Formats: sequence, C-alpha cells, structure tokens
Amino acid sequence: MKYINKNLTIEKISVEAISKRFGTPAYCYSYDQLRKNITNFKKNFSSLSPLICFAIKSNTNLNLIKEIKKFGLGADVVSMGELMLAIKAGINPKKIVFSGVGKTSAEISYAINKKILLINAESQSEIKEINRIAKLKNKKVQVGIRLNPNTDAKTLNQISTGRKENKFGVNSKTFLELVNYCKNSNNIILKCLSVHIGSQILDYKPYVKMLKAINKTINRANFKFEFIDLGGGMGISYNNNKKLNYKKYNIAIKKFIKNHKSKIIFEPGRSIVGNIGILISKIIYIKKSEKKNFVILDAAMNDLMRPALYGAIHKTLPSIKNRKISKKTYELVGPICESTDKFSTLQKFQNLKEKDIIVICDVGAYGMSLSSNYNVRPKPIELLIKGSKIKVIKKRQNHSDLI
Ligand code: LLP
Repeated sequence: MKYINKNLTIEKISVEAISKRFGTPAYCYSYDQLRKNITNFKKNFSSLSPLICFAIKSNTNLNLIKEIKKFGLGADVVSMGELMLAIKAGINPKKIVFSGVGKTSAEISYAINKKILLINAESQSEIKEINRIAKLKNKKVQVGIRLNPNTDAKTLNQISTGRKENKFGVNSKTFLELVNYCKNSNNIILKCLSVHIGSQILDYKPYVKMLKAINKTINRANFKFEFIDLGGGMGISYNNNKKLNYKKYNIAIKKFIKNHKSKIIFEPGRSIVGNIGILISKIIYIKKSEKKNFVILDAAMNDLMRPALYGAIHKTLPSIKNRKISKKTYELVGPICESTDKFSTLQKFQNLKEKDIIVICDVGAYGMSLSSNYNVRPKPIELLIKGSKIKVIKKRQNHSDLI
C-alpha cells in the first residue's frame, strides 16, 4: 500500500475508487501481500520443512482460505464450523489439526469421521472422550496432547495462553500421566506434543523458554513424538517497527529438534494475514464538543473489535493526502452506543472533513472474524485485490439477513 499522486493505493487500485464502487465500511485484502507473507514464513523456517497450518480463526473468509490453500498450507481449527470451512476450502484433512479446550462429542465425532491429522487434546476428560467415541466407531485416532509450558509470552494479558493460570493445555505432570493413558488405550495413537503460548509475540525469548520446557517434558516422558506442534503467535508491527527475530527462533528450534527428530507443525494466523487487510470507512459527521473533536465513522466496534477489546492501536491513514496537518486532536469513533466504540486518538493528522475516507490498517487478522451484528448492523463487504482486479469475496450483509 502506498500513496501515488496523494492517493492511497492498494496494489494498483486507489482506496477512493474502491470506496466509490463498493461503499463503506469495506474490508479489503491484498493478494500480493498474502503471497509475500506466506513465502517469507516458509523461507524463515525452510530448514525445518514444517507443516504450516493456517489458524482459521484469524480470518474465516472461505475465498481467502482457498487462496491460502493453494500455497500448500493446512489448517488449525478450533470448532466444527472452522473444520467444515477448512474442508470446504479444499484443505486436505491430513493437514488439519484441531485445537481447543472444549471440543464437544459431536465435534470429536465429526473430526474422527473426517480423518484429520490430529486432535490436540487439552485435558484428561477430553482424551477419555476421544477414546470412547473412537471405540464406538471402531477406529484408531491420531491425537496430540497440549502441554501448558508455564511460559510467559510477554504479550497482552488477554491473549496469553501458556502460563499455569491459563485454561489451556495440561502441566508436565498430567502430561506424563496422559502419555501413559494413551499408551494403554486401543483406540488412540499418540503422535504429537502441542503448545501455543500466546499471540502477537514480538520477543523470541519466550519461545526459547517454551522449547526448554517441552524438551524437559519429552525427556521425562521418554516417548517418541512424530510431531511437535509449536502453535502460532508470531507478532506483526502495528504501530511501531518491532519485529520478531525469526532467525533466533529458528536456530532455537533447530537445536531442539536435533534431540527429537520430530516433524514441526506451526499454526500461524496473524503473521499470514494481519497486514494484508485494511478497513475502509467514511466520516459521517465531525462533532465538536467542549473537550474533543469527535470524528464519527460509518465503521464501528462491531466491525473491528480489537481496539475496544484489547486497547489495540491500528495505524490510520487518509485515503487522499492533500491537506495541511491539523492542530486539532481527533477522536476516531464509531456510531455504536458504547463509549468503548473508539478506534484511536489522532494527533498531527491532516485536517479532516465530513465524507472523507479513512483507512484503518492491519486488520486482516481478527478483524472480520471477530466482527458481530451488534446494534443490528450488517457486516461489511470483503474484497480481494489482485493487481488491478477486485474480487468480491464476501457480499455485504443486508438488513433482511438480520431481521
Ligand atoms: N493456535 C492456537 C491454538 C491458538 O489459540 C491461536 C490463536 C493460534 C494458533 C494463532 O495465533 P496467531 O498466530 O494468530 O497469533 N483475537 C486476538 C488474538 C487471539 C488469538 C487466539 N489464539 C487479537 O485480535 O489479537
């Protein structure tokens, strides 16, 4: 995305043109950026030849997942819906892993029928339930056990998953008990140790700590795992230039794998799709109050939850850069009846006017997938840009879809 003659342009199309043709709010993704992200991810870990399972929860657009599939990626799913979506997108079930702390019997049964690569179990009760269902079906099921490595991912509290106070995985002691349970059950084949310590991780050191914890547990278990699933969590730069040091993470994994010779699985979401997407929105009104200049957009927290939910800051840009920098501070808000319906505070931004088009950046991950119909607001259209071509990859919802 860059400014060409003051016009913000995504691949070969200006944001102004997109907004005129398709209306606002609109999610818009760049195919070229997607391709670059996947190529870079593969390059970063090429010496490991890992299985890369895209975390479907980060972006659930069927057409986008179809594109991701073409690069040979598998899928990490956390519900029957996500599993159905991955299969519909054509992803080979032998490249699908199923995570999550609360898989229902129906979900386990469906996953067994679809013969997916792994069901990554997160508790003793779940392992027993998988065994019970597999026995009824007279099948053998490949499973993983998720270890809680008690590692602080040094990310936001709300998206940390690898500490002992988090609900995810089992501690080392329970892990060893479950390994023994699996060894003695006829319908379960233990194949994998899985972990996922959190999301938006920018420091490689927690990953090194996590690998140490895994190493210790495997040595105690004295079991040969065919797969080690390291989860996802690789962070992206939203509003600073911080980057995860992939080189150091890769070196640590290589060192770790020497002792274990397992195949590595990754479950990246954000690092694949985070920076491919923008949310295009129009200013409805500008309202000056005693204290603030509110810029009220036609997009709201129901369309993009991250700022309201996590205090996340997304870079914001004007679609046309043609005015002087304002002395005002703008509060960028949506029309929803909650004071948390705020995207950001803009300082040293260009002067704004009603009907201007505003772009919120880096919303490809956990943007549309976290959206809702709160306030009976139809969900935005989703578009995929490939060079000078625009494809509608999901239609805008109608009020009639909701009422
Ligand atoms: N694997 C598992 C088991 C997960 O729970 C997650 C994300 C991932 C993989 C993918 O993580 P990623 O590579 O995208 O960081 N809504 C939050 C993020 C929640 C992440 C939940 N789990 C946000 O908008 O920041």
